[in-house]
Amino acid sequence: MLLELRGVYFKYAELGANKAALNGIDLTVSEGDSIALVGPSGSGKSTVLLHLDGLLRPAAGRVLYMGGDIHAKGFDLSRLRRDVGLLFQFAETNFFGQTVYEDVAYAPLNHGLRGRALAQAVTRALEMVRLAPSVKDRSPFSLSGGEKRKVALAGVLAMQPRVLLLDEPTSGLDPGTRANLLSLLNDLNRQGTAMVMVSHDLDEVADIARQAVVLKDGRVADKGSVREVLTSPDLESWDLEPPEAVRLGKLLGLKSKGMPVLSEAEAVSAILARGK
Ligand SMILES: Nc1ncnc2c1ncn2[C@@H]1O[C@H](COP(=O)(O)OP(=O)(O)OP(=O)(O)O)[C@@H](O)[C@H]1O
Ligand SMILES: [Mg+2]
Repeated sequence: MLLELRGVYFKYAELGANKAALNGIDLTVSEGDSIALVGPSGSGKSTVLLHLDGLLRPAAGRVLYMGGDIHAKGFDLSRLRRDVGLLFQFAETNFFGQTVYEDVAYAPLNHGLRGRALAQAVTRALEMVRLAPSVKDRSPFSLSGGEKRKVALAGVLAMQPRVLLLDEPTSGLDPGTRANLLSLLNDLNRQGTAMVMVSHDLDEVADIARQAVVLKDGRVADKGSVREVLTSPDLESWDLEPPEAVRLGKLLGLKSKGMPVLSEAEAVSAILARGK
């Protein structure tokens, strides 16, 4: 087990925040996981990611990394910072460097990498997000929206994190760039990076994640395999829109290996099988 939230309760201290953002959240992230965090706006998804990354401290409950309480005295927070990478929503709005190189190098530089090792970390990260090496000399502000998102992701990947936390990584991207980014994330997960991704698009969730956790009012409303969660009859009570294929599957009673269909491909196979 890598990361764990145990009974996490949290309230934003700012004026007016009178209700708790998290109301006793339990969540486990293990090696190789690919977890989608879904739920309506304001349900606590981003707040959960900020706890997993140690940026917010629970008012009650615990956050564990490799079994150790990350807020306990003596816990090596720099290890968590090295191993857990968080891509904020619209992370590209936080660029500060004159060049892409400076932005991507920021975290490894902070962790003591210098010279050739630093240059290699940047080159490797840009390769991972499939950007040309020449991009490193450009101003990050001169890039297209999709390129910017990739540079922001490269900045997180430069640390080679074991766990990747992604807050709506594909929002605002065109379909091609989105597909490209999703396939890249899929590859990373297959190579062993555990992932927790917030998404409002359940079609995308069906494509990329294996497990899903539903948040509603700062509580876990449901968790299970993506198929179990996305085909649940309760989906609408959580203010979630089922993927198109799931909706069609329900209307037509389509099954794949005895389970409700999740993808277009499964729906098509089920329809063709009926005709036989
Ligand atoms: N900085 C803040 N100060 C005060 N309250 C906040 C702050 N950030 C979030 N909240 C509140 O905490 C709750 C959970 O917010 P959070 O951002 O985690 O939701 P979310 O599920 O990520 O929503 P979205 O899908 O809109 O991004 C909401 O009620 C929100 O208004
Ligand atoms: Mg959010």
